Amino acid sequence: MRVPISAIDLDMGTYPRKGIRQEVVEQYADALRGGAAFPPILLENKTNKLLSGLHRIEAVEKVLKQPELWENGHKPDGTIEADYLAAPESIPRKLFRASLDATHGLRLSPEETKALAREVYQANPDFKQKDCAKLLGVSNNSISRWVQDILAARREERQHKAWKLQLLGWTEREIAQALNVSPATAHEDCSKSSEWKKSSNSLLSAGHPVEEVARRFNLSPLLVWAAHLKGKDDRARMGALGWPIRTWDYWNWSDVDHRFGDEWDGRIPAQLVAHALYFFTRPGALVLDPMAGGGTVSDVCLAMGRRCRSYDMAARPERRPEIEEWRWDPKDLRWAPSAREKPDLIFFDPPYYKKNEKEYGERSISALPRLDYLRFFREWAALAWANSKPETRLALLEADWRDFQSTPALEEKPDEAVTLLDYVREVSPTGRGWQLTHRIESPLSTERFTAGVVSAMQEARILGAVSRTLLVFRRTHDSV
Ligand SMILES: C[S@@+](CC[C@H](N)C(=O)[O-])C[C@H]1O[C@@H](n2cnc3c(N)ncnc32)[C@H](O)[C@@H]1O
Repeated sequence: MRVPISAIDLDMGTYPRKGIRQEVVEQYADALRGGAAFPPILLENKTNKLLSGLHRIEAVEKVLKQPELWENGHKPDGTIEADYLAAPESIPRKLFRASLDATHGLRLSPEETKALAREVYQANPDFKQKDCAKLLGVSNNSISRWVQDILAARREERQHKAWKLQLLGWTEREIAQALNVSPATAHEDCSKSSEWKKSSNSLLSAGHPVEEVARRFNLSPLLVWAAHLKGKDDRARMGALGWPIRTWDYWNWSDVDHRFGDEWDGRIPAQLVAHALYFFTRPGALVLDPMAGGGTVSDVCLAMGRRCRSYDMAARPERRPEIEEWRWDPKDLRWAPSAREKPDLIFFDPPYYKKNEKEYGERSISALPRLDYLRFFREWAALAWANSKPETRLALLEADWRDFQSTPALEEKPDEAVTLLDYVREVSPTGRGWQLTHRIESPLSTERFTAGVVSAMQEARILGAVSRTLLVFRRTHDSV
C-alpha cells in the first residue's frame, strides 16, 4: 500500500547504521526521477515505525524538493510503497532492523555490523550468538571474535558478585538465583574467588595499597579489603580501616566514610555500623539489615567478617545483588521469606518519619500518617521478635523528627512530632519482648548547615535537630 511519508515515524533511536549514505540517496533519487520502482519499505504494524527503507524515504524527499529535475510524467506525490509486519519482542529492535537489511543490496558495512553486535552484547550478554550471527548474516566465529572481551568482562563482573555474596554467607543455590545463572555456573563462579584472593593477596603482602590492587585486578576495593583483613581480629580490622575504637557511648563523625555504601539519601557512617558490630556481635555473626538503602551495613560486614542479609523496597539487583527487593507492607506485614536463619543482630535504619519523605516515595513508611507509622514499629518489633533467637540484638538507629525547618521552637506542633521516646514505647511497650540495653548518641553532622542558615535560625529562635541515637535492645524470653 502507499503511505504518506509524513505519517512515518523514522524511529532514529533504533536505526542500525552509523548514518545515512548520501551517495546512495543521490543514486536512488536519480533512479526515481527516471521512473524506477523500488521494493516496498517496511513499517511496524499499528505504530507506523520504520523498520527498513530510510534511504528510499530520503530519496523520495530529495526528489520532492527539486521540482526542476522532475522528468516528464514523474510527478511525486509524497507517498511511498510500504509493507507492514510485526517486530518480534525477543529480538533487540536495532538487530531486527539490521536483519531486514542483511539480505538486500544495501547491507550494513562490516564496521557497522561489528559495532551493532557489540552494542547488542553490552545490553544482552545472554543473547544466543548463533541467532545473532544468522540475523546479521555473518559467521558464528565473527560474532564470538567481536564480543568476546565484552562477555569476558561480564563474566568477571559476575564472578566478583558471586565472591561478595559468598563472603556475606550466601549459599551457592542462593547465589545462582540472585545472579540468574545455573547452579553449575554459580559453583564455577564461586570457585574462582580463591584465585582472585591469591592474586590480590600476593600484591598486598608485597606492600601495594588496597586501592592500587583493586585497580590492577578490576576488583571492588571492598573485596580487596575483605581479602586483606581475613584472619585479623576486629581491632586490627578497624585500625587498618582508620576507625579508632570509640570507648564511650558517644559516636560522632563529621562525615560518612565514602568507601562504604552508595550515595543514598540517609546514608549512615560506616564507622557507626562497625562500632555496632564490634560491641554487639562476634566475627562470623549474621546481621540482618531490613531497610538497607545504599548498602552501608553489608559493605561494613564484608570488611568486618560478618555475614549479612539486606532488604529494601528500592532494590538495584544489577549493582547490588546483595540487597533483596522486599517491602515491609504495613497492611500485610510478613517476614522476608529468604531471611530463614535467625540473625545475631538486626541493624535497623528506617526513615526518620518525614525526613526524606519525598525521596523515599509514597510506598515508604515515611508516607504513613503518624499513628500508622508508630503502629508499624510496634508490629514490626513483634514480627522481628518472633523471627529471632534468644541472643538476637536489635539495634535501631533513630532521630527525633520535629518540623523545625521554618518554625520557632515555641510554635512547633508537637502533635506531628515523633521522638526517640515514641520508638522505645512502640518497640518495647511493656518491657517484655525487647528490652532496651544501650542508648548511644550518634549525632548527625551540622556541617551541612551554612553560617547564613545558622544565623537565620538563631535570629528566629528555631531549634535545629541533629541528635540521632542508636537504641540497642536485647530479646527477652517473654513474648511481646
Ligand atoms: C535511612 S534509609 C537507609 C540508609 C542506609 N542505612 C544507608 O546507609 O544507605 C531508609 C531506607 O528505607 C527504605 N524503606 C522505606 N520504607 C520501606 C518499606 N516499607 N519496606 C522496605 N524498605 C523501605 C527506603 O527505600 C530507604 O532506602
